[in-house]
Amino acid sequence: MAIPFLYSFVATVSTMTVAVNAQVFAPLQFAGVNIAGFDFGCGTDGTCVISETVPPVYQLSGVDGLGQMQHFVNDDGYNVFRLPVGWQYLTYNQPTGVLNETQFSNYNMLVSDCLSTGAHCEIDIHNYARYDGEIIGQGGPTNEVFAELWYNIASYWQNETNVIFGVMNEPHDIPNITTWAESVFQLKIISSLFREAGATTQMILLPGNDYTSAETFVSGGSAEALAMVTNPDGTFTNLIMDVHKYLDYDNSGTNAACVTNNIDDSWYPLATWLRANGRQALNTETGGGDVDSCVGYISQQIGYQAAQSDVILGYLGWSAGSFATDYVLSEVPIYNGTGWNDTLLVSMAMSPMTNMLVASVV
Ligand SMILES: *[C@@H]1O[C@H](CO)[C@@H](O)[C@H](O)[C@H]1NC(C)=O
Ligand SMILES: *[C@@H]1O[C@H](CO)[C@@H](O)[C@H](O)[C@H]1NC(C)=O
Ligand SMILES: *[C@@H]1O[C@H](CO)[C@@H](O)[C@H](O)[C@H]1NC(C)=O
Ligand SMILES: *[C@@H]1O[C@H](CO)[C@@H](O)[C@H](O)[C@H]1NC(C)=O
Ligand SMILES: *[C@@H]1O[C@H](CO)[C@@H](O)[C@H](O)[C@H]1NC(C)=O
Repeated sequence: MAIPFLYSFVATVSTMTVAVNAQVFAPLQFAGVNIAGFDFGCGTDGTCVISETVPPVYQLSGVDGLGQMQHFVNDDGYNVFRLPVGWQYLTYNQPTGVLNETQFSNYNMLVSDCLSTGAHCEIDIHNYARYDGEIIGQGGPTNEVFAELWYNIASYWQNETNVIFGVMNEPHDIPNITTWAESVFQLKIISSLFREAGATTQMILLPGNDYTSAETFVSGGSAEALAMVTNPDGTFTNLIMDVHKYLDYDNSGTNAACVTNNIDDSWYPLATWLRANGRQALNTETGGGDVDSCVGYISQQIGYQAAQSDVILGYLGWSAGSFATDYVLSEVPIYNGTGWNDTLLVSMAMSPMTNMLVASVV
């Protein structure tokens, strides 16, 4: 009698295995890289020395950011770029929401270049939840000023469905995460500002505390606080959690060697929370040095992310753009006269053409 029971048990298990595998093979929606430079000069205290900006725009005497992005799309299958910019750059050092026309049109050259490739393009305000050392809505610029900044940005790109609004890069040391979540909510980005600005379909990225660490997103309270941020109709559609994670020993993204795939400490608890709460996340910064340890661990991380592609939308490397090619985390491709040569990490692990885990190439 035991034997038929065992057979039927095995049959059930193998049906379940097929179902699980079907989920495992769903590709990630997004893969790409940061195109940095308009954020150069910004510090973690929310100061930005705008004379240190190095636009990755050829016409502004910078590197060929357009060429880099075209290469990444055509040769690697990337379909998203994150375009960091300092708040001070856009307003020409005024702590307001009013965009300086010249400064904004410079930044818009990069955004237009990005959109011309057909990729999604993230506007990333790279200010660590601060302006000149003071936290938004907690001693620094008011929520209304921050909302005005985003109203002006969202109005400009209201008809560009491929623009993604990255509310804020890496908030950290926020005394009250609930108050920060209220600042994000009060942008009315979320409740209605973005939508009043005519931007009705774009993705909006919601940033938690601790430099948007994927590892402490749940344990540090960001998940619970940001869970209250919804659309005006109560849905979560296109409201995506923004998370970062590096693979070096101190998660600083300053060391060449990778020591972890982050699965047990970060991606597993994050994915579990997202699934239980009907939310999704995008990993907008990750990376490592051009060394074998990073090729190995990042491949494992991306493989796991792809297995969670119902709740993790994709990953973006840090960083290409205006960085020197010998910067420790450089993903800057080198033009050799006829084509672009990728870094080891991109060509061996992060390129969708290599890992075949991203929708753009499978
Ligand atoms: C806008 O920025 C430019 C520099 O790009 C500056 O010369 C100009 O004075 C600024 N305009 C205003 C109104 O602040
Ligand atoms: C967006 O499209 C609408 C409808 O065509 C148009 O009225 C509006 O001016 C456009 N907005 C921008 C910023 O181009
Ligand atoms: C954080 O802010 C919320 C809402 O403003 C408030 O209810 C709560 O008491 C604050 N928490 C602390 C620890 O101050
Ligand atoms: C330049 O790069 C392209 C693309 O990676 C490659 O096919 C070609 O062989 C390279 N040429 C030289 C001279 O290195
Ligand atoms: C081009 O890529 C190869 C690996 O494919 C690497 O060995 C070589 O150093 C790269 N060249 C440049 C100029 O980066």
